[in-house]
Parts: sequence; C-alpha cells; structure tokens
Amino acid sequence: MKIKKAIIPIAGKGTRFLPATKEIAKEIIPIINVPMIHYIVQEAVEAGIEQIIFVTSSGKFSVEDYFDRNLELEAYLERNNKIKELELVRKIGSMVEITAVRQKEQLGLGHAVLMAKNMVEGEPFAVLLGDDIVINPKPAIQQLMEVSVQNDGANVIGVMEVPKAETAKYGIVKGEVINERTLRMTGMVEKPKPEDAPTNLATPGRYILTPEIFGILEKIPRGAGNEYQLTDAINILCQKKNVFAYKFEGERFDTGNIHGYLDATIDFALKDPAIKEKFIESLKYRMNKYGITL
Ligand code: UTP
Repeated sequence: MKIKKAIIPIAGKGTRFLPATKEIAKEIIPIINVPMIHYIVQEAVEAGIEQIIFVTSSGKFSVEDYFDRNLELEAYLERNNKIKELELVRKIGSMVEITAVRQKEQLGLGHAVLMAKNMVEGEPFAVLLGDDIVINPKPAIQQLMEVSVQNDGANVIGVMEVPKAETAKYGIVKGEVINERTLRMTGMVEKPKPEDAPTNLATPGRYILTPEIFGILEKIPRGAGNEYQLTDAINILCQKKNVFAYKFEGERFDTGNIHGYLDATIDFALKDPAIKEKFIESLKYRMNKYGITL
C-alpha cells in the first residue's frame, strides 16, 4: 500500500532554543534563509507524501501559514516585478496539502502521534520529527517507505550509527541482523549507558508505522519524563508485528540543539555557490580577529 500521509509533530516547547521560542515556533527558525521545517516537508514531498499532518500547539500558527498562500505578498511581489521571489513564494504555498491537529497538553511524542489517529486510521503512515534534517539525494523517509513496501507494509524505524560513547543521548535499537542495513527489531532501549547499549544504532526521528501503534499508544502508561513515549509503544509493537530498523543513507543534522543547528548552517553555507566565497572570507577574517588558528 502506498504511504500517502506523514505526521510531523511540532507541539514541543523548544526550550533549547529559548529565548527565540518564547515568541516564535522553533520550526520557523531558518537555516540561513529557509525555515527548518521547510527541509522536513520537502523531504516528505520528494518521497511522494501527499498530505502532511502537523501536530501543533498554541503559538505554532506560523508553521501552517508558511505553507499557505500569502496573496498580499504575492500581489506586492508582482507589482514590483520581483518574479523570481514571486515564483518561490507561490511554490511554497502549493507544495503539499497541509492539515493540523492540536495537542492541547505536551504529554510526549507518543501522545503527539496519537493525536493524529483519526487523520490516518487504517493506513500505514510516515512520522518525521520537526528538528531532524536529513540530506540525501533519495529522501531518508523514501528509503524507509521502500523497505516497508518490500516487507508487506511492515513498520520501519530509521536508524543511524553513533559513537558507542554517545548512546546515552539516543533511543538505541536491538534485534537480529538481516543484512548490512537492516535489523529485525526485538525492541528499543531509551538512552542506555555505552556498556548497556545493545547496538550503536540510534533513532533520529524517521518512522514508517502501521495503525496498530494507536491501540498501543492508547494503553501505555506514562514513561520516562512522565511523558507518553513513542519508544515504549514501539517496544510493544515489536512483540506483535514485524518492525524493522533500517540504516538510511544521508547526513543528519540535529537542528533541535544549538550545535547541530550551527553544523547545518555552516554546511549549507559552504555548499551554496552564491554564499560560499564571502562566507569563507568572513570565517577567515573572524578567526584571525579572535586569534584562532587551525
Ligand atoms: P523534543 O524532545 O525535541 O522537544 O521533541 P522540544 O520541545 O521540541 O524541544 P526541547 O527539548 O524543549 O528543546 C521531539 C519532537 O517531538 C515533538 C517536538 O515538537 C519535536 O518535534 N513533541 C514533543 C510534540 O509534538 N509533543 C510533545 O508533547 C513532545
């Protein structure tokens, strides 16, 4: 079955980006001049997703507005003969069908996904986290969709290798190795110490899930941080259904934290021919100014 819908939970408070997130949605903070969320939606659209379901909270209207038409701005750009900008703005406004559901209380990622139940019931769906950008010619979520289709519509969790010393920062999967990139999962461990980690395969926020997950999410108790954890539900799902972990191709930037955000900004500036030269000049000047040598 073709996967047509993607849930993107964006209801979190974004405390690591305070004070900016006191007033604006974290997802609207740009990497250079493109909001973070644009990259996530673009990945889904390039993978063939037809409908995006944002799970939102108060103060997140700007994310929905960003993907909507802005007729006033379009008219202004047209009047002033800014054709390139007009095309860009129009393209964003017609990228994909957007719907939104509210998560009234921020009770965790598992709870956020459950809020979208009525919008996707009966179909497998994708979940992409709003602050993990993955760059690859073939979108990471498309790679997972293909594994799901090849395995009769199974659940597939995107994973990436992390240094063993850093397992305590991530959800880590365990299971039986099927091939170089795929594991049949037996479960997940949340933030294990390196000595307790079953693998070094972490889950950075790309999932293909089947509707069985909702029944589980409705029954699980609160877990770590007193929140309803998607990890807890996936652990139960592994006992009932086929759940695969797939090591996707692509570079992932954790733009939910300041260092990952800076990594993405520097990377995107260095690969953009229109920005690169002046940016390198500026870096050299500033390193010299602060007495930094490499
Ligand atoms: P994070 O753990 O990164 O939380 O959530 P956060 O609020 O975005 O950021 P910090 O940690 O306070 O800085 C992972 C993803 O799950 C969503 C978030 O919006 C983010 O995309 N989420 C989390 C929800 O939608 N609802 C929740 O109750 C919790």
